[in-house]
Amino acid sequence: MKSVADSIETSKTRSLLKGKRVLITGTTGFLGKVLLEKIIRVVPDVAGVNLIIRGNKKYPDAMDRFKAEILTSSIFDHLRSTKPELLKNFCEQKIQCIGGEITEPAFGLSKTKYTELAHSTDVFVNSAASVNFQEELDTALLINTLCLNNVADFAIAAGDIPVIQISTCYVNGFNEGVIKEGICGPTGKRIPCDENGYYDTEHVVSALQNKIGKTKAAVKDSKQLVEALIELGLKEASRYGWGDTYTFTKWLGEQLILKRLKGKRLTILRPSVVESTLESPIPGWIEGVKVSDAILLAYARQKVSFFPARKAGIVDIIPVDLVANGVILSIAEAFETPDDARIYQCCSGSQNPLKVERYVNVICEEVRVNWAKYPNLAKKQPEKKFVLVNKKVFIGVMKGLKLAHSVSDIVRFKSLNTKSKAAKVVDSTLRLSSIYSLYTSPEYVFNSDKLMALSDRMGEKDKELFPVDAQKIDWEYYFQKIHVAGLNRYGMEDRTDAVVTKESVKVEAPSLEEAARA
Ligand SMILES: NC(=O)c1ccc[n+]([C@@H]2O[C@H](COP(=O)([O-])OP(=O)(O)OC[C@H]3O[C@@H](n4cnc5c(N)ncnc54)[C@H](OP(=O)(O)O)[C@@H]3O)[C@@H](O)[C@H]2O)c1
Repeated sequence: MKSVADSIETSKTRSLLKGKRVLITGTTGFLGKVLLEKIIRVVPDVAGVNLIIRGNKKYPDAMDRFKAEILTSSIFDHLRSTKPELLKNFCEQKIQCIGGEITEPAFGLSKTKYTELAHSTDVFVNSAASVNFQEELDTALLINTLCLNNVADFAIAAGDIPVIQISTCYVNGFNEGVIKEGICGPTGKRIPCDENGYYDTEHVVSALQNKIGKTKAAVKDSKQLVEALIELGLKEASRYGWGDTYTFTKWLGEQLILKRLKGKRLTILRPSVVESTLESPIPGWIEGVKVSDAILLAYARQKVSFFPARKAGIVDIIPVDLVANGVILSIAEAFETPDDARIYQCCSGSQNPLKVERYVNVICEEVRVNWAKYPNLAKKQPEKKFVLVNKKVFIGVMKGLKLAHSVSDIVRFKSLNTKSKAAKVVDSTLRLSSIYSLYTSPEYVFNSDKLMALSDRMGEKDKELFPVDAQKIDWEYYFQKIHVAGLNRYGMEDRTDAVVTKESVKVEAPSLEEAARA
């Protein structure tokens, strides 16, 4: 059997990356780690990898944070045991950690450091983002939209180097049907377009900044201000045609970078819902509990037995190793034909559609039958059934409950600002169901024809080394033999409770019955 090393010799992608210096942001995150590991393992001939890492309280120094929070990750275990010398040498000789904040002009670096970095970078991969659906609007705008000005400035200063911007398929917002690899428009409040087809988002951003300023001036209590900025984000997103602040600000970011780079030297790569590795470096590796795993965990812990969903909708899940491969292919193409702007979707919807009902049945069945194998997920065999209810029915019932609680609060002379706990539970359930129903009641299918064509262009060796085609996934096998076990082993690492990471909500989100009981 041929090894990966044999194949490497004739890889077009590897040849194109040889001797190049890649700058990556977001490597303390999920996708960034998988990307870095893959580059070290399969593309070790790059000249260097520059990582922009912001310091945190525990590790103010970027290199210290790299060693403590990135290098110790179990994603590197495979390399540590199979090629320890390669890992050691690569880290010592080729990795440069730069302590910087990408939301600040020049990343907050001194002029000398900035120029030095610009002169030692051939491509910029921006994976940093706030993936919190309910982020405060000012924070989301800064990291998902405005920081792309700093990325564009850097790319220009470095000599018009190509940029790979990691976006999300869900920039489609409320657009329905087949979503192709092109620019999406708003379905809500109209935003004018220029002659190049780009939306006039400058006005939108300044209107948002205006509202943020007014909110900050009006709300003095810090906790209430956080709530107000979250609400503002969701309200504005919905007004323009998006279901949450995250996808809205990522769409604004796409527009900003497209315009700043004048439609050149740019690849926007949009993954769908990113989940555990399919095979590389090991099957099932995941960091934290992701958004769609909230359903799995809620079922395993019997917290929720009703969920709003459209059974026949296509839930779009893509293993993280396929996304990292998509990034590497995009980098290679950017070196081969640098002038164009491209949009790719790394997803499964069109290649290997998975219906919501099948997805939920497969994961729940695995947890119900083999619960004892997954002690970090389930403490006992789940007994209650998991029922998918129509979104309209669910929201209708919740609105009925909301009205009932409002009346009861008024009868009990509660002011509008001091809702009962029950009314708050209903409110938050309504908010969560409206955000998540876009994902669990999909009315769209993401298409990835262009990414498949890129994979074809790169040739057979690269299809083997950097697969991106979701068609090869056997969903039953993936969820039952790989993903649930991976989630139990890696997703729950160093965790004492089932609280979902930044990207999603607490699994303890109230169910219909809990809300009704409350
Ligand atoms: N995960 C998914 O399902 C999914 C789906 C579609 C698209 N994507 C896209 O894929 C990319 C990577 O996502 P992920 O899942 O790896 O996210 P993640 O695990 O949450 O990692 C986010 C990364 O962004 C960095 N970051 C966040 N705020 C920052 C700030 N203000 N300044 C500097 N860095 C900041 C984080 O650094 P710190 O550690 O310093 O906070 C971290 O390295 C994102 O662009 C996301 O939009 C993800």
